[in-house]
Amino acid sequence: MARDQIDASVHLVLGIETSCDETAAAVVRRHCDGTGEIVSNIVRSQIAEHSAYGGVVPELAARSHIAHLDAIVIAALDEAGIGTGALSAVAATAGPGLIGGVLVGLTTAKGIAAASGKPLIAVNHLEGHALTARLTDGLDFPYLLLLVSGGHSQFLLVRGVGDYERWGTTIDDALGEAFDKAAKLMDLGYPGGPEVERRAGSGDPARFRLPRPLLSERRLDFSFSGLKTALRLAAEAIEPVNETDIADLCASFQAAIVDILSSRSADALERFSKACPDAPPTLVVAGGVAANRAIAKALEGVCDGAGARLVVPPAALCADNGAMIAWAGAERLVLGRTDRLDAPARPRWPLDEPGMRIAS
Ligand code: KG4
Ligand code: ZN
Repeated sequence: MARDQIDASVHLVLGIETSCDETAAAVVRRHCDGTGEIVSNIVRSQIAEHSAYGGVVPELAARSHIAHLDAIVIAALDEAGIGTGALSAVAATAGPGLIGGVLVGLTTAKGIAAASGKPLIAVNHLEGHALTARLTDGLDFPYLLLLVSGGHSQFLLVRGVGDYERWGTTIDDALGEAFDKAAKLMDLGYPGGPEVERRAGSGDPARFRLPRPLLSERRLDFSFSGLKTALRLAAEAIEPVNETDIADLCASFQAAIVDILSSRSADALERFSKACPDAPPTLVVAGGVAANRAIAKALEGVCDGAGARLVVPPAALCADNGAMIAWAGAERLVLGRTDRLDAPARPRWPLDEPGMRIAS
């Protein structure tokens, strides 16, 4: 193949992420063989702006995205050493998420796309998480995805770009939300997941016997609100709590979550092997909670037992970032799936809805 032909199929895509409390932009390169790399990846966390409120305040988040996004996009392009003329497309999260923030990122992307004459790609944020492992580990389809973030807890069969089947979800709180609420009730700050994990490291996981909701049922759904209530009751029963109590509460809470995820993942892998008998069984964990090392270690054991491969992208790429949106955009671009400039921002947007599918 002539060199100019090879170059013609290399794509540089700008990705913008503003659906929650990270203002992020990145440039990724996708090669003609389907591999890719991150050229620049700038993330500005708003945690400091929301921590006084114990959670993300949507209005503040949107205003902060407005204040910082332009500079972050420019920084991402500068670090990549390119202008918008070198881009193949502009991708942005179009949902699901906090609608004010999504509108900021999507509208900015539309402006850049219109001004530069490049195609727009309106990316589902969950698809960004779902496809990250293809960027980091070059995974082939199909694979099983456990998506655990502040807003979602789902098992998905990932068959292809735009081709997802949801096998289970939470019937109440998302897992990251459960970590955050647990942290809040113990006064551990926001976001709570990393701090609960840190405290759990020195605690006794057997001291408080907390429930494992739905564990006796053979469905792939989750429920975390009963666990959170049980944690509150356990804490109230021993008030006032000292540092050792908090470590033990965190360890017991995390142990319950590890048990729930392990059992569910074993069942989901069994289902995967039946649904895709010719595919090497692979479990990908994505979303902010995938940064939890106790969870990853337990799932490693589950995968070993099932003869499956576990893939956990680096923590910085499990949490919200622009690279995952740019990559999902690149994957859609090569399939010809670009969007019109009137693409809507969507507060809710299930990954497995028919509109996500790409006709082959
Ligand atoms: O994916 P993400 O960055 O944002 C959403 O799309 O929600 O996930 C953030 C969530 C927060 O709830 C945070 O507490 C949780 O991920 N998280 C963790 C850990 N690091 C982040 N949960 C448990 N253990 C961690 N190490
Ligand atoms: Zn996310």
